[in-house]
Amino acid sequence: MPTLSPNAGELLMQRIEQLAAISESEHGLTRRFATPEHRRANDLFADWMKQAGMSVQEDAIGNVTGRYEGTTDSAPCIMLGSHLDTVVMAGKYDGMLGVLCGLACVEHLAASGQRLSHAIEVIAFADEEGVRYHSTFLGSRAVTGEFDLSLLDRLDKDGISMRDALIAFGKNPEEIGAAARQPGDIAAYLEVHIEQGPVLEQQGLGVGVVTGIAGATRMMVTLTGEAGHAGTVPMTLRRDALVGAADCIAAIEKICTGPVDLVGTVGAIDAKPGAGNVIPGSVGFSIDIRAAEDETRNTAVEAVKDHIKSVCEKRHLAVDIDTVHDEPSEACDPALIEHISGAIASCQPRVLTLTSGAGHDVMVMSHLTAAGLIFVRCAGGISHNPAESITAEDAWLGATVMLQTVLSLADATAH
Ligand code: GLV
Ligand code: MN
Ligand code: MN
Repeated sequence: MPTLSPNAGELLMQRIEQLAAISESEHGLTRRFATPEHRRANDLFADWMKQAGMSVQEDAIGNVTGRYEGTTDSAPCIMLGSHLDTVVMAGKYDGMLGVLCGLACVEHLAASGQRLSHAIEVIAFADEEGVRYHSTFLGSRAVTGEFDLSLLDRLDKDGISMRDALIAFGKNPEEIGAAARQPGDIAAYLEVHIEQGPVLEQQGLGVGVVTGIAGATRMMVTLTGEAGHAGTVPMTLRRDALVGAADCIAAIEKICTGPVDLVGTVGAIDAKPGAGNVIPGSVGFSIDIRAAEDETRNTAVEAVKDHIKSVCEKRHLAVDIDTVHDEPSEACDPALIEHISGAIASCQPRVLTLTSGAGHDVMVMSHLTAAGLIFVRCAGGISHNPAESITAEDAWLGATVMLQTVLSLADATAH
């Protein structure tokens, strides 16, 4: 089976450093959807794809796509990709590795003038993390035709609507519908991503094949009490929203501890007015609950909501719970799992199957086409953290498995 050139891993790592240098924050990597930094990352990635001989387009949500034509005009493409947005204080590899592996595959084909019966498209999704607007998968949902236009009115923490952010990004939000692809356009979607967990490292393997991805629910909760003087209002007469939130957060940990695979996280909290001598009058916080089994997740979500309501009743707080993301678990395509497994078997001694606790664009793309996911080992399983780290050898291996999977898939489905 063909492999990428020996220096392709080093080139991937150099490009990851170039992308990681494009950050909103002076220290660490933060690149949220539709920011000037996202613009620079898209433009840099578009340049690399043009240099590889691809025709490049950017759709109205900000997905940038390069196309390397095949020999048959009418054949559906094989799409390779991941995302270019990041969390706050992110690692460098989450998302970036996948888009660069797709590009490396095309560069390999272009270097020898090889064309497959399918075109290859490489896509860098605009938003997978959902950090800026608390709604994930904005990019892939536009491609599958599932983008909810009412999201355009949602505000970020600075009061900027998604519509205005997209206009400033150079887009016409009215055209988002035109980003949708038809099922017959895409034969398969394939993604390489860091594992973001410790299993591959523990097993001494560089890559693995994913069989399914956990479902997730995200909620934004606002508790409203009454602000007051920290020195004068007796403890028994307070309606302290932050103490109410603390009670809820402790309960979320308790409810989500126990069932295997169930996890619950409060990752963001904002107490207002936010002064040391003022009783907090209102508090907003996020909740993220995930499980491989949808029933387990849904039961936990209901238990958490019930608990929040009872805390608010007891403490005389008003409550608003906004479910901003609700994605069921998703199985990867069985035929693609076979193709990926065959490619892995030719590169390493053992094929390991894994499930993913993290969300990926594969979940949404699988609504439109067969979708598959290749995991690459990361040090200590650490992710969503500046300490995220992989080796050039493993990056090379991930891209090589992607290339071999593409070739095997193109062979099996040649027109
Ligand atoms: C994406 O990284 C997620 O939150 O799973
Ligand atoms: Mn992520
Ligand atoms: Mn990711």
